[in-house]
Amino acid sequence: MLVLLSFTAWPNVSGSSSSSSSSSSSNSSSSMDDTVVSLSKGSRVWYKQDAETWLLAEIKENSNGKPSVVLISGHPGKLLQGVELNRLVPANPELQQAIADLTQLSYLNEPSILDNLSQRYSGECIYTNAGPVLIAVNPCKHLPLYTSQVADQYKAGAFEAVNQLDPHIYLVAGAAFRDMVRQGTSQSLVINGESGAGKTETTKKAMQFFAALAGGTGVEGQVLETNPILEAFGNAKTLRNHNSSRFGKLIEIHFNKTNHICGARIRTYLLEKSRVVHQLKGERSYHIFYQLVRGTSDNTQREALRLPGKPSEFAYLAKSGCTDIDGVDDAANFAEVLEALSDIGLSPADIHALLSTLSGILWLGNLRVEPVHADDSSRIKNDSALSNAASMLGLREKDLTYALTHKKIKTRDELIVKPLTAQEALEARDALAKALYAGVFTWIVAAINHKLDMGKKASGRFIAILDIYGFEQFQTNSFEQLCINYANERLQQQFTRHLFTLEQEEYETEGIDWTKVEWVDNQACVDVIEAMPPKGLGVLAVLDSQCRFPKGSDETFMHALSDALSANDHFGTDPRRQGEFFVNHYAGPVSYNSTGFLDKNKDMLNADLVQLMETSSSPLVTSIAATTADEIEGRRGGQTVSSRFTQQLRELVSMLDATGLHFVRCIKPNAKLAAGSFTSELVLQQLRCCGVLEVARVSRAGFPTRYRHADFVQRYKILLPREQQGMVLHNDAEMRAAVVQLLAVFKVPPGQYEMGRSKVFFKPGVLGYVEDTWAKMQASVLKLQAYTRMFFARKRFQQHRAAAQLLQSGWRGRVARLQFARDLRQHKAAVCIQRHYR
Ligand SMILES: Nc1ncnc2c1ncn2[C@@H]1O[C@H](COP(=O)(O)OP(=O)(O)OP(=O)(O)O)[C@@H](O)[C@H]1O
Ligand SMILES: [Mg+2]
Repeated sequence: MLVLLSFTAWPNVSGSSSSSSSSSSSNSSSSMDDTVVSLSKGSRVWYKQDAETWLLAEIKENSNGKPSVVLISGHPGKLLQGVELNRLVPANPELQQAIADLTQLSYLNEPSILDNLSQRYSGECIYTNAGPVLIAVNPCKHLPLYTSQVADQYKAGAFEAVNQLDPHIYLVAGAAFRDMVRQGTSQSLVINGESGAGKTETTKKAMQFFAALAGGTGVEGQVLETNPILEAFGNAKTLRNHNSSRFGKLIEIHFNKTNHICGARIRTYLLEKSRVVHQLKGERSYHIFYQLVRGTSDNTQREALRLPGKPSEFAYLAKSGCTDIDGVDDAANFAEVLEALSDIGLSPADIHALLSTLSGILWLGNLRVEPVHADDSSRIKNDSALSNAASMLGLREKDLTYALTHKKIKTRDELIVKPLTAQEALEARDALAKALYAGVFTWIVAAINHKLDMGKKASGRFIAILDIYGFEQFQTNSFEQLCINYANERLQQQFTRHLFTLEQEEYETEGIDWTKVEWVDNQACVDVIEAMPPKGLGVLAVLDSQCRFPKGSDETFMHALSDALSANDHFGTDPRRQGEFFVNHYAGPVSYNSTGFLDKNKDMLNADLVQLMETSSSPLVTSIAATTADEIEGRRGGQTVSSRFTQQLRELVSMLDATGLHFVRCIKPNAKLAAGSFTSELVLQQLRCCGVLEVARVSRAGFPTRYRHADFVQRYKILLPREQQGMVLHNDAEMRAAVVQLLAVFKVPPGQYEMGRSKVFFKPGVLGYVEDTWAKMQASVLKLQAYTRMFFARKRFQQHRAAAQLLQSGWRGRVARLQFARDLRQHKAAVCIQRHYR
């Protein structure tokens, strides 16, 4: 009887067979999530109000293929008639709200994912799984999620898989540790997200967890102390994040044979040097500069470091109009940094040299360059700024002024000295400041690595944490954005490939034909950026070749780019936007302005300035000179910023490939980092950029939901013929047959599922459909039962009533007859009495 009940027909797939081709299966699979499966009255759907806004609604009526819906969110109760089908996608049942793993959602479309995250966020659940990926939404406030009690709960999970634990960064860190111990292989946590999304905080939480989990040797404290140092030297206030990391970093935490932390190694990528000399309005330079000026309390030391009263007296710090951060105490942070510096083994003399160099860099910004109109040369004003800069950098004043105002040019036969214009001298000054700061940063990282070197105790196993800048797209995008987006493109590729491999392993174990799944990665876009001959010419190869041409310029670069790549779908130029080209990234097209590309890629520091640094009496400055000289030598040998970055990226990717990967995607809930606010459009854009939707896409391409045969039969066996229901299924073959029989009851076409050895795998939305149908069947059965019960109850009632009426009428008849007899007797008696009386 149940099988005869009518329910929504299977969409788009009637007549499809089990041998459906890959494309047809993937097409129908995507349709499952993005088109409305059931338009029957009462189905929940998402209504697309505009490009970014989805409203929850319910189908009211669907008579002519253009349903009417009633809004549930936005304007609750509002009726919209004749809605276009392409504005509707299915919504998950009410039951599936705020669930901890997105891939468990019946429908994995964008509004459903967004809604789930938003509901969890409002319940202060900032962590959600998307299959093997952890999504961490920045809470923008302190939450009691990292107490020692919480850490203790998750520590247990680090030794054996514990299912009941909610998603958490500790859970991911614990799983990485467990995999390292069990499999004996190194692991990596790849943390990604846009600026302010919480990557660095998440990295710190993971490091703290590892220290709590595998500390004991004392090194873990030093490893944690690298955080304040790296943040002071590499972080700055930007408009998007008051503690923004202006470099990418990879921290390897090394373990000894007893699985305790025994050391660490830090690698850094692309420090934003230009911030030292220039910041946008409202932004700051690196924290350490403000800390130095505000936190040096000893007067003698202030004198020795030539520090003025406040940061704004330094031109490099004053120009942006911002020297403070709300709620941040630079002086207190400086004390912490000084302590950490000495803990990592820097001597007081080293620290003094470091601080002097920082002060010298700041004084360089105060140098005043005056034009000499007679011969278009320039000179540097002889004032306290000059003496302070020279003294702090261990240079002679005359050497400094000469090097900043002259340039030696080598011709074939002689060495010519060319005086620089005021503008050129200012550029030389800024270049020196940037080179010195970059050198200081490299030196600090080297000092940390020296201190944390794991030595002989290391087992060779480590857990690496990658805190790297996310995809960037601004109004104007330059060389730096191209490098950052290239890194993201490579990491995204690795992410998709890895997830796919994981899926593949399970399919292979279950004996499922993998070739049915269609999947494309972003190799084409990676090639547009990095291809080298003979594979082709990518943007970076074209750039490098232009840097080698003596007459290469940003214009010739644009021409060469158009020649090499104009036929490529992932590359484009617009004749109306001169000097710009765009690349079609996985996260969307980004337009790059080619101005300055060549100079930034060459990054050549004038050799005279390197020679100047070599004359310094400060060992720190001379060591920076030596490193810079090596780099320049490399540049002469054809090494450019991009070629070095490409090399670093290759090494990074192959290192990650050799480890077990764990992905964390950080999400910024709103642009202002205000607690409690969740801006759907912004989140959606990040979900697209950081590849969470990619996880959904990869899942969609395959069979994301699965059920063990036995569980499936147990749940739906009531739908089998009565004689089969009580049967004990002895072996796999019987079990499989029962599953297939049940799926036929649900009218699921064979192409929508695959039978594995122990599990049945479903295309996206199929399980949702099965559950919906099951719910409708149950509702129909209930209705039927209710009507049947009503029928019998009514019948019984009518019989009872008829019987009661019969009884009542009989009784009433008897009572009436008795009454009549009594009345008659009384009447007769009365007549008799009257007769005798008369
Ligand atoms: N788990 C968290 N708990 C509390 N606050 C957090 C958390 N994660 C992030 N925040 C807040 O958000 C701010 C920005 O986070 P963070 O500096 O980690 O971002 P980021 O992704 O590293 O950004 P950038 O790319 O600019 O370096 C932090 O300063 C902190 O105030
Ligand atoms: Mg950061």
